[in-house]
Amino acid sequence: MIIIRGGRPLSGRVEISGAKNAALPAIVASLLIPEPLVLKRVPRLLDVETQLALVEALGKQVERWGDVITIRGEAKIATAPREIVSRMRASFLCLGPLLARLGEAHVPLPGGCVIGARPVDLHLSGLERLGAKIQVDEGVVHARGKLHGGEVWLRYPSVGATEQLLLAGATIPTRVEIVNPAREPEVMDLGRLLASMGAEVEVLEDRIVIRGGGLHGTEHEVIPDRIEAGTYLLAGAITGGEVELMDVCPEHLTALIAELEGCGVAVRCGENAISVLARENWLGAEVETAPYPGFPTDLQPQLTAFLTLARGRSIIWERVFESRFGHVGELLRMGARITLQGQAIIVEGVEELRGTEVVATDIRAGAALVLAGLAARGETRVKGLEHLLRGYENVEEKLVGLGANAWLEETSAT
Ligand code: EPZ
Repeated sequence: MIIIRGGRPLSGRVEISGAKNAALPAIVASLLIPEPLVLKRVPRLLDVETQLALVEALGKQVERWGDVITIRGEAKIATAPREIVSRMRASFLCLGPLLARLGEAHVPLPGGCVIGARPVDLHLSGLERLGAKIQVDEGVVHARGKLHGGEVWLRYPSVGATEQLLLAGATIPTRVEIVNPAREPEVMDLGRLLASMGAEVEVLEDRIVIRGGGLHGTEHEVIPDRIEAGTYLLAGAITGGEVELMDVCPEHLTALIAELEGCGVAVRCGENAISVLARENWLGAEVETAPYPGFPTDLQPQLTAFLTLARGRSIIWERVFESRFGHVGELLRMGARITLQGQAIIVEGVEELRGTEVVATDIRAGAALVLAGLAARGETRVKGLEHLLRGYENVEEKLVGLGANAWLEETSAT
């Protein structure tokens, strides 16, 4: 559980960690080569530990030295452990690499989660286009065959499916063209990593083209975590404080910065820093989540929390996941005024939120409740700490460093 005594404006500087959603596919890329892959700026997060446990279970050796990870050795096992894949969906990305390296792969289907069903049909149909023979039996995907080049059109620019196809394409000596790909910075970071491992990667207007073969070891620094960055920007804004983020890529946060400025919050961008100078009150907004460079769904819960204290009405359309509303009920319990109409979250701003005990249901819902607690009167106790720790490195230290009155309390129900 994280306990917060709210009402204090945050101020100061916070160091942003490497991106969880760039580190997770990068770790899976190690399956493509026996030589050492050195990854820098890897955040210490539960999800990262899970992904490292996965590649170890598949035959790799992992060494960690601070935020530098070295992964070496031959992937020898074609079956991914069920308890790992069911715990963390991004482990499903090992399907393509294992098939490419071993000629077969057996990976359990990742379950859905509270934010949606999260099917992987685009991963499977994409690999089939490239020659994979796929059968699903009792919740396990069995893939066999030799992969070849080709053109894959994605009906939706899925981040995971694009990463799955890039990882597979990096092993195929003929061109793989992914049409209508995801363009999230984390996907681009994977493309840069695969290129530094020897693949040829081209990002074109409507597609990403990759040609593989002859892969080798490399060193790669993971990009900053734009979702962690956006969360701390909103923490500064919702508390009416002044927060500066260090070591970030402002260009990855254009959509959030535009929305904050639209609400009347001053945001200043430097070379690799962003600071927010919030005001006592801010205006509502109308926002729609979308694939990058649209407004990121991973900041929707945090923005919703911020808008509960805006002057006037806001509408936030969640267009990426069908049920990313777990934070709404808990915000209502803190005194927010929100109604749901289909995919629309309709928020009427209130004067203040009141601290109480709330439960996080996923990583970003947890972040939203922390933000609400920072602004609320009284004490907020956010249960479901395990969700928060999946996506936010040193969260207590970083919040306290910004002047928050917050601390972690390990309880049975965390
Ligand atoms: C990645 O998930 C991120 N996770 C998510 O972050 C993020 O919310 C999401 O991209 C969208 O940006 C990681 O990178 C580890 P998608 P992913 O495939 O790859 C549908 C966080 O909080 N879809 O782009 O699963 C799907 O149902 C997490 O850090 C299919 O229909 O996202 C969803 O509606 C949460 N078929 C939409 O596409 C498929 O085969 C977006 O999913 C795949 C996806």
